[in-house]
Amino acid sequence: MNLIVFGPPGAGKGTQAKRLETVLGLPHVASGDIFRDIRKQDSPLAREVRSYMDAGNYVPDELTIELVLARLRKPDALQGFILDGFPRTEPQAEALDSALAGDRRRLDVALYINVPDEIITQRLQGRIICPQCHAIYNVVTHPPIVDLTCDVCGHALEKRTDETPEVIGTRLEVYEQQTAPLVEYYGTRGILREVDGNQAVRVVEAGVDEALDLRGVK
Ligand code: AP5
Ligand code: MG
Ligand code: ZN
Repeated sequence: MNLIVFGPPGAGKGTQAKRLETVLGLPHVASGDIFRDIRKQDSPLAREVRSYMDAGNYVPDELTIELVLARLRKPDALQGFILDGFPRTEPQAEALDSALAGDRRRLDVALYINVPDEIITQRLQGRIICPQCHAIYNVVTHPPIVDLTCDVCGHALEKRTDETPEVIGTRLEVYEQQTAPLVEYYGTRGILREVDGNQAVRVVEAGVDEALDLRGVK
Protein backbone atom coordinates (compact mmCIF):
# COMPACT_ATOMS: atom_id res chain seq x y z
CA MET A 1 0.00 0.00 0.00
CA ASN A 2 1.23 3.51 -0.88
CA LEU A 3 -0.26 5.77 1.75
CA ILE A 4 0.05 9.43 2.72
CA VAL A 5 -1.03 10.82 6.08
CA PHE A 6 -1.77 14.53 6.26
CA GLY A 7 -3.52 17.02 8.53
CA PRO A 8 -2.67 20.02 10.72
CA PRO A 9 0.33 20.18 13.09
CA GLY A 10 -0.28 17.98 16.14
CA ALA A 11 -3.18 16.09 14.54
CA GLY A 12 -1.51 12.78 15.40
CA LYS A 13 0.00 11.97 12.00
CA GLY A 14 3.25 10.65 13.48
CA THR A 15 1.46 8.75 16.26
CA GLN A 16 -0.78 6.92 13.78
CA ALA A 17 1.89 6.46 11.09
CA LYS A 18 4.32 4.85 13.58
CA ARG A 19 1.67 2.32 14.55
CA LEU A 20 0.83 1.59 10.90
CA GLU A 21 4.52 0.94 10.25
CA THR A 22 4.23 -2.08 12.59
CA VAL A 23 0.76 -3.17 11.45
CA LEU A 24 1.51 -2.97 7.72
CA GLY A 25 5.25 -3.75 7.79
CA LEU A 26 5.95 -0.72 5.60
CA PRO A 27 8.46 2.10 6.26
CA HIS A 28 7.22 5.26 7.97
CA VAL A 29 8.75 8.12 5.99
CA ALA A 30 8.25 11.43 7.83
CA SER A 31 9.54 14.56 6.11
CA GLY A 32 9.72 16.30 9.52
CA ASP A 33 12.00 13.51 10.85
CA ILE A 34 14.20 13.78 7.73
CA PHE A 35 14.60 17.51 8.39
CA ARG A 36 15.16 17.02 12.15
CA ASP A 37 18.02 14.60 11.32
CA ILE A 38 19.55 17.07 8.85
CA ARG A 39 19.27 20.05 11.19
CA LYS A 40 21.47 18.36 13.83
CA GLN A 41 24.46 18.54 11.46
CA ASP A 42 26.89 21.42 11.08
CA SER A 43 26.50 22.41 7.43
CA PRO A 44 25.02 25.20 5.30
CA LEU A 45 22.08 22.89 4.49
CA ALA A 46 21.45 22.28 8.22
CA ARG A 47 21.51 26.02 8.91
CA GLU A 48 19.06 26.64 6.07
CA VAL A 49 16.67 23.94 7.31
CA ARG A 50 16.87 25.28 10.90
CA SER A 51 15.96 28.78 9.76
CA TYR A 52 12.73 27.61 8.09
CA MET A 53 11.66 25.14 10.79
CA ASP A 54 12.34 27.38 13.75
CA ALA A 55 10.17 30.10 12.21
CA GLY A 56 7.32 27.63 11.52
CA ASN A 57 7.68 27.99 7.75
CA TYR A 58 7.86 25.24 5.17
CA VAL A 59 11.20 24.24 3.68
CA PRO A 60 11.14 25.19 -0.05
CA ASP A 61 9.45 22.70 -2.37
CA GLU A 62 12.47 21.98 -4.55
CA LEU A 63 14.66 20.79 -1.67
CA THR A 64 11.82 18.94 0.08
CA ILE A 65 10.78 17.10 -3.08
CA GLU A 66 14.35 16.04 -3.85
CA LEU A 67 14.97 14.65 -0.34
CA VAL A 68 11.66 12.80 0.03
CA LEU A 69 11.62 11.29 -3.46
CA ALA A 70 15.19 10.05 -2.94
CA ARG A 71 14.02 8.33 0.26
CA LEU A 72 11.10 6.68 -1.59
CA ARG A 73 13.51 5.19 -4.13
CA LYS A 74 15.31 3.17 -1.41
CA PRO A 75 14.61 -0.58 -1.64
CA ASP A 76 12.54 -0.79 1.56
CA ALA A 77 9.97 1.68 0.16
CA LEU A 78 9.48 -0.04 -3.20
CA GLN A 79 6.83 -2.43 -1.80
CA GLY A 80 4.88 0.44 -0.24
CA PHE A 81 5.28 3.30 2.22
CA ILE A 82 3.54 5.43 4.82
CA LEU A 83 4.36 9.05 4.04
CA ASP A 84 3.80 11.46 6.95
CA GLY A 85 3.97 15.23 6.38
CA PHE A 86 4.65 15.03 2.64
CA PRO A 87 3.18 16.23 0.35
CA ARG A 88 1.98 19.45 1.95
CA THR A 89 1.79 21.79 -1.03
CA GLU A 90 0.24 21.28 -4.46
CA PRO A 91 3.62 21.28 -6.26
CA GLN A 92 4.77 18.52 -3.84
CA ALA A 93 1.58 16.52 -4.51
CA GLU A 94 2.08 16.83 -8.27
CA ALA A 95 5.76 15.87 -8.01
CA LEU A 96 4.84 12.76 -5.99
CA ASP A 97 2.13 11.73 -8.46
CA SER A 98 4.44 12.06 -11.44
CA ALA A 99 7.40 10.30 -9.76
CA LEU A 100 5.15 7.37 -8.81
CA ALA A 101 3.60 7.25 -12.29
CA GLY A 102 7.12 7.15 -13.77
CA ASP A 103 7.77 3.98 -11.71
CA ARG A 104 4.34 2.53 -12.60
CA ARG A 105 3.20 3.13 -9.04
CA ARG A 106 0.43 5.28 -7.60
CA LEU A 107 -1.00 6.47 -4.28
CA ASP A 108 -3.70 4.24 -2.85
CA VAL A 109 -5.00 6.38 0.02
CA ALA A 110 -4.62 9.96 1.31
CA LEU A 111 -5.53 9.73 4.99
CA TYR A 112 -6.64 13.09 6.38
CA ILE A 113 -6.59 13.40 10.18
CA ASN A 114 -8.43 16.51 11.32
CA VAL A 115 -8.27 18.23 14.75
CA PRO A 116 -9.43 21.74 15.80
CA ASP A 117 -6.79 24.43 16.48
CA GLU A 118 -7.38 24.78 20.24
CA ILE A 119 -6.73 21.05 20.83
CA ILE A 120 -3.59 21.24 18.70
CA THR A 121 -1.99 23.87 20.92
CA GLN A 122 -2.61 21.78 24.07
CA ARG A 123 -1.19 18.65 22.48
CA LEU A 124 1.96 20.32 21.17
CA GLN A 125 2.68 21.93 24.52
CA GLY A 126 2.75 18.46 26.12
CA ARG A 127 4.73 16.66 23.42
CA ILE A 128 8.21 15.26 24.00
CA ILE A 129 10.09 13.28 21.34
CA CYS A 130 13.05 10.95 21.04
CA PRO A 131 15.74 12.58 18.86
CA GLN A 132 17.29 9.16 18.23
CA CYS A 133 14.42 6.84 17.17
CA HIS A 134 11.70 9.51 16.60
CA ALA A 135 9.25 7.97 19.09
CA ILE A 136 6.51 10.42 20.16
CA TYR A 137 5.25 10.97 23.73
CA ASN A 138 2.98 13.36 25.58
CA VAL A 139 3.41 14.29 29.25
CA VAL A 140 -0.38 14.17 29.70
CA THR A 141 -1.78 11.58 27.28
CA HIS A 142 1.20 9.29 26.61
CA PRO A 143 4.03 9.64 29.17
CA PRO A 144 7.15 7.43 28.95
CA ILE A 145 7.55 4.72 31.62
CA VAL A 146 10.70 6.37 33.04
CA ASP A 147 10.62 10.19 33.22
CA LEU A 148 12.10 11.87 30.11
CA THR A 149 13.56 8.58 28.83
CA CYS A 150 12.56 6.84 25.59
CA ASP A 151 10.75 3.51 26.20
CA VAL A 152 12.04 2.19 22.87
CA CYS A 153 15.75 3.07 22.85
CA GLY A 154 16.56 4.62 26.25
CA HIS A 155 17.71 7.97 24.83
CA ALA A 156 16.85 11.21 26.69
CA LEU A 157 13.61 12.79 25.43
CA GLU A 158 13.35 16.44 24.41
CA LYS A 159 10.97 19.18 23.28
CA ARG A 160 10.95 20.23 19.64
CA THR A 161 12.24 23.69 18.80
CA ASP A 162 9.13 24.76 16.85
CA GLU A 163 6.61 24.72 19.70
CA THR A 164 6.49 28.20 21.18
CA PRO A 165 2.95 29.69 20.98
CA GLU A 166 4.15 32.13 18.30
CA VAL A 167 5.68 29.46 16.07
CA ILE A 168 2.65 27.17 16.52
CA GLY A 169 0.50 30.10 15.32
CA THR A 170 2.62 30.47 12.17
CA ARG A 171 2.52 26.71 11.52
CA LEU A 172 -1.29 26.72 11.69
CA GLU A 173 -1.52 29.67 9.26
CA VAL A 174 0.92 28.11 6.81
CA TYR A 175 -1.02 24.84 7.02
CA GLU A 176 -4.32 26.60 6.21
CA GLN A 177 -2.85 28.41 3.22
CA GLN A 178 -0.66 25.72 1.70
CA THR A 179 -1.82 22.28 2.86
CA ALA A 180 -5.58 22.53 3.46
CA PRO A 181 -6.15 22.71 -0.36
CA LEU A 182 -4.88 19.12 -0.59
CA VAL A 183 -8.22 17.93 0.85
CA GLU A 184 -9.78 18.94 -2.46
CA TYR A 185 -6.79 17.73 -4.49
CA TYR A 186 -7.12 14.17 -3.17
CA GLY A 187 -10.93 14.33 -2.92
CA THR A 188 -11.11 14.98 -6.66
CA ARG A 189 -8.87 11.98 -7.28
CA GLY A 190 -11.16 9.73 -5.22
CA ILE A 191 -8.54 8.56 -2.70
CA LEU A 192 -9.29 10.83 0.28
CA ARG A 193 -10.26 9.16 3.59
CA GLU A 194 -11.02 11.44 6.55
CA VAL A 195 -10.67 10.49 10.22
CA ASP A 196 -11.71 12.61 13.22
CA GLY A 197 -8.44 13.01 15.17
CA ASN A 198 -10.10 14.74 18.13
CA GLN A 199 -10.70 11.52 20.06
CA ALA A 200 -8.65 9.26 22.33
CA VAL A 201 -5.68 7.64 20.55
CA ARG A 202 -7.31 4.17 20.59
CA VAL A 203 -10.51 5.56 19.02
CA VAL A 204 -8.52 7.35 16.31
CA GLU A 205 -6.66 4.07 15.66
CA ALA A 206 -9.99 2.29 15.11
CA GLY A 207 -11.08 5.07 12.73
CA VAL A 208 -7.83 4.76 10.79
CA ASP A 209 -8.20 0.97 10.54
CA GLU A 210 -11.73 1.39 9.25
CA ALA A 211 -10.67 4.06 6.73
CA LEU A 212 -7.92 1.74 5.44
CA ASP A 213 -10.07 -1.41 5.57
CA LEU A 214 -7.62 -3.04 7.99
CA ARG A 215 -10.02 -4.50 10.51
CA GLY A 216 -9.21 -8.08 9.51
CA VAL A 217 -5.47 -7.52 8.98
CA LYS A 218 -4.10 -7.38 12.56
P1 AP5 B 1 6.40 17.95 10.98
O1 AP5 B 1 7.36 17.31 11.90
O2 AP5 B 1 5.77 17.13 9.93
O3 AP5 B 1 5.32 18.73 11.86
P2 AP5 B 1 3.76 18.98 11.68
O4 AP5 B 1 3.15 18.62 10.38
O5 AP5 B 1 3.57 20.37 12.13
O6 AP5 B 1 3.10 17.94 12.59
P3 AP5 B 1 3.60 17.43 13.98
O7 AP5 B 1 4.72 16.45 13.79
O8 AP5 B 1 3.82 18.61 14.89
O9 AP5 B 1 2.30 16.69 14.50
P4 AP5 B 1 1.74 15.23 14.21
O10 AP5 B 1 0.48 15.36 13.42
O11 AP5 B 1 2.77 14.29 13.71
O12 AP5 B 1 1.30 14.84 15.69
P5 AP5 B 1 1.98 13.80 16.74
O13 AP5 B 1 1.62 12.39 16.36
O14 AP5 B 1 3.39 14.13 17.01
O15 AP5 B 1 7.14 19.17 10.24
C1 AP5 B 1 7.93 20.07 11.01
C2 AP5 B 1 8.52 21.13 10.09
O16 AP5 B 1 9.36 20.51 9.10
C3 AP5 B 1 7.51 21.97 9.29
O17 AP5 B 1 7.00 23.04 10.04
C4 AP5 B 1 8.41 22.42 8.13
O18 AP5 B 1 9.29 23.45 8.53
C5 AP5 B 1 9.25 21.19 7.86
N1 AP5 B 1 8.60 20.28 6.88
C6 AP5 B 1 8.21 18.99 7.12
N2 AP5 B 1 7.64 18.45 6.03
C7 AP5 B 1 7.66 19.42 5.08
C8 AP5 B 1 7.18 19.48 3.74
N3 AP5 B 1 6.58 18.42 3.16
N4 AP5 B 1 7.36 20.63 3.05
C9 AP5 B 1 7.98 21.69 3.61
N5 AP5 B 1 8.44 21.71 4.87
C10 AP5 B 1 8.27 20.58 5.62
O19 AP5 B 1 1.09 14.18 18.03
C11 AP5 B 1 1.23 15.43 18.68
C12 AP5 B 1 1.10 15.25 20.20
O20 AP5 B 1 -0.23 14.85 20.51
C13 AP5 B 1 2.00 14.13 20.77
O21 AP5 B 1 2.42 14.53 22.08
C14 AP5 B 1 1.09 12.90 20.85
O22 AP5 B 1 1.48 12.02 21.88
C15 AP5 B 1 -0.26 13.56 21.14
N6 AP5 B 1 -1.40 12.85 20.53
C16 AP5 B 1 -1.44 12.26 19.29
N7 AP5 B 1 -2.68 11.75 19.06
C17 AP5 B 1 -3.43 12.05 20.17
C18 AP5 B 1 -4.81 11.81 20.53
N8 AP5 B 1 -5.66 11.17 19.70
N9 AP5 B 1 -5.23 12.27 21.73
C19 AP5 B 1 -4.39 12.94 22.58
N10 AP5 B 1 -3.08 13.19 22.30
C20 AP5 B 1 -2.61 12.76 21.09
MG1 MG C 1 4.77 14.54 13.19
ZN1 ZN D 1 14.02 6.45 21.20
